[in-house]
Amino acid sequence: MSAGGTDVDEPIEVPRADPSRISEMIDAVAEIGGDPVGGISRLAYTPEERKTHSLVSGWLRDLGLEVWEDPVGNTLAKRAGADPSLPAIAFGSHLDSVPHGGRFDGIAGVVGMAELMRLLAEAEAETIHPILGVAFASEEGARFGEPCIGSKFVAGSLKEADLTRIRDAGGMALGEAMASAGLSPIRLAEARWTTRDVALFLELHVEQGGILEAEGRQIGLVDVVSGSTRIRLVLRGRANHSGATPMSARTDAFVGAAELAVAVEKLTSDPSFRGLRATVGRVDIWPNSMTTIPGRVTMTVDIRDTDSDRQRGAAAQVVERARWICERRGLALASAVIADTSPTVLAMWVRERLKQACESLRLTYRFMTSGASHDSQVVSRLVPAGMVFVPSKGGLSHVPDEWSSATDIARGVDVLFASLLDFDRFLLEVESRSDARPAG
Ligand code: GLV
Ligand code: MN
Ligand code: MN
Repeated sequence: MSAGGTDVDEPIEVPRADPSRISEMIDAVAEIGGDPVGGISRLAYTPEERKTHSLVSGWLRDLGLEVWEDPVGNTLAKRAGADPSLPAIAFGSHLDSVPHGGRFDGIAGVVGMAELMRLLAEAEAETIHPILGVAFASEEGARFGEPCIGSKFVAGSLKEADLTRIRDAGGMALGEAMASAGLSPIRLAEARWTTRDVALFLELHVEQGGILEAEGRQIGLVDVVSGSTRIRLVLRGRANHSGATPMSARTDAFVGAAELAVAVEKLTSDPSFRGLRATVGRVDIWPNSMTTIPGRVTMTVDIRDTDSDRQRGAAAQVVERARWICERRGLALASAVIADTSPTVLAMWVRERLKQACESLRLTYRFMTSGASHDSQVVSRLVPAGMVFVPSKGGLSHVPDEWSSATDIARGVDVLFASLLDFDRFLLEVESRSDARPAG
């Protein structure tokens, strides 16, 4: 961990992001997918998600940018650079939400990208590299289990076979959901990026934790993004009458599931799994009747860690404990890993240059890990990536009360703007050296 400070006399002069414009854009996006039961439900590849992509495309077109939607639903906007043969410097985040989620997760980064494009236009800034704004589709894993779907197609880590393999809780295949949202998953190869298209990806995001707020710092620079392993378990017992069946004659699937949920929590307090987060987030009981013993439970366990051995080791332990509990209780068990994403260390040299931007802007910062998944983690498998966090109020996220101030988000955009100019020059130096690619 390192705290911000500066020995720079004058903060550097770049146009500053406007909190009121940011606030207006966030409000406009939040009008789409408002859930009467609370928060925002704008799930992957739903009409609500697509509507936000159209809204943002409109803003970017109004700035005179070349805007298009790729076959998997990502929205892209390009601003020409002086040398069109160079790969772009890309920025962005996502527009979908979890069920009953908040207004800022993902949105802050897309709105920040739109504000950055506006600042570049207003300043008539000339960059050498093209600038690419991205609103990724379907980052949240809440619907399909698989997180970062749009960016995984871009980076080539999801393929054609995944269109039928990945399914939502209702059994709808990913490809079918995409087609019914008006997309052309069959043309997914056209969505792929190569290193000739993009040189670097930066993502602005809300912290989703309470560290920056508690420490009174303005910016978090992410070093490691946690990985996640998601398991679906189906426990089968026998449904029967809740009054007429003696306690000794039951195979209650829910009680087995409850025991497993406690075992999952206990696992996280094992010293060898310190740092692990494990969550039973979804439980479906059949027949879900007050007067019938549950005959079947489907549950999900989401396991996250910045260490891949711990992440996958814990996933194996969860399945082993489930087997043991089910055997003892006479329940049948089926389990499947439905998604598995590795933890990712983001490029140190990118982080160091983002740090310099914070220092030159006299913003307080720290390095930190991310507990959540992000598109930058996926894109970093293809090209170097960096992440800038801004404070979240009360550490709340994936809930209606999620909040970050527009002023804090604007500071994040300022960091992107200042570092953009720096990366534009620095990457050119690197590209001009044939053997060169910064280490780390
Ligand atoms: C995405 O926000 C995730 O980490 O679930
Ligand atoms: Mn997000
Ligand atoms: Mn999220």
